[in-house]
Amino acid sequence: MMVKQRRTIRRVEVERSPRLGLIRPTRLGFRVSVRLHDGQTPEDYTRVLDKLAHAWKVHAVRLASWKPGKVVLLATLVDPLEHVTLPVLSDGLLRVRVGLLDTGAPFVIDFRAVPHWLNVGATQSGKSNLANALIVGLAPQPVALVGFDLKGGVEFTPYEARMSALATERAECAELLAELIGIIMARMALCRAHRVKNIWHSRLPESERPVPIVVLVDEVAELFLMADKKKEQEEVSAVATRLLRIAQLGRAFGIYLKVCGQRVGSDLGPGVTALRAQLTGRICHMVNDEETAKMALGDMDPGALVAARQISPAMPGTAVVIGSEGRWHRMRSVHVTEEQAEAAAATYAHLAPSWARLTGNVAAAGDLDEVDMEEFTAPDLEDLPV
Ligand SMILES: Nc1ncnc2c1ncn2[C@@H]1O[C@H](COP(=O)(O)OP(=O)(O)O)[C@@H](O)[C@H]1O
Ligand SMILES: [Mg+2]
Repeated sequence: MMVKQRRTIRRVEVERSPRLGLIRPTRLGFRVSVRLHDGQTPEDYTRVLDKLAHAWKVHAVRLASWKPGKVVLLATLVDPLEHVTLPVLSDGLLRVRVGLLDTGAPFVIDFRAVPHWLNVGATQSGKSNLANALIVGLAPQPVALVGFDLKGGVEFTPYEARMSALATERAECAELLAELIGIIMARMALCRAHRVKNIWHSRLPESERPVPIVVLVDEVAELFLMADKKKEQEEVSAVATRLLRIAQLGRAFGIYLKVCGQRVGSDLGPGVTALRAQLTGRICHMVNDEETAKMALGDMDPGALVAARQISPAMPGTAVVIGSEGRWHRMRSVHVTEEQAEAAAATYAHLAPSWARLTGNVAAAGDLDEVDMEEFTAPDLEDLPV
């Protein structure tokens, strides 16, 4: 009796070892198919991919495909993010391929799918590089660029030729934000006149469709830093309120935000917490403290936080990102120098709409306090013109 039982157990063990097919080399590693045993599911493999990578001494293993009874595993020998090149960054209206995901797919910032983005990272982590990539990608497109750069303009002044407006001091920022709200109001009036809920609606005549505006904010903490003097405190509070309003209303009216910062914690005031909630696209570069990573990645899978903490200073531009489908990935931006971004800004300077044109109908707009937020909505993706 005992002997019989033992034999059964042994047979089960033999059957459960993986039935590997031929190992085929790929550009970055190899692929191998595995025939599943009865009762096994692809999830049995997805759960142990990290262990497999460890056992096979490769960078990563992922499930490339599966059909009944069979899965295909793809092993990469080296990190695909080690060398990132992408020939063209512009990828359709308001879409920029700024880098590569660790899946090998390009990472696309698509402002119409995810209107507002938060990009955090320590000094030298790759924040400016990502802004450069965005500028190179957006410069040839029919969009307006607006910059907020409180570090004395060092970040965006080189690209000023392609920008429709650039604010480098707090008082200027408050003023420029007020003008952006004026633009939102005018667009709201336009949408009302045509009985549409957003500027992308097909009922809005093409000739009247407003130019989309991408607002780049460098180092958001500078905007929120508490000042001592009463007048400065009032400025900070005006800036915080206006930025939040733009984030809340912008998506329906073609105004998109990309906000950068080393710190985005609530120590900067309540305005920052409310703003963060509106910035649903997240890019977390290497950070110095766990807290900032948590601010950026929220209550995602704890694995995202671990991945963010593991970013090596030897690979600047690497980040953990959350985009439209809400899943997280490792990403590395394509290396774009300030010179390249400056050259793109100069080449396409003639495409920058003048600020006067963008604010053309503002005087006719109503009062922001009378806005019914329910009236306007972000467009459904299917409705968007390509
Ligand atoms: N994706 C990348 N690939 C290669 N080098 C990068 C990448 N991103 C940034 N770097 C380099 O790392 C350094 C710091 O990047 P930078 O964007 O200036 O960081 P930050 O603005 O966060 O301080 C720069 O020398 C830059 O060229
Ligand atoms: Mg920088």
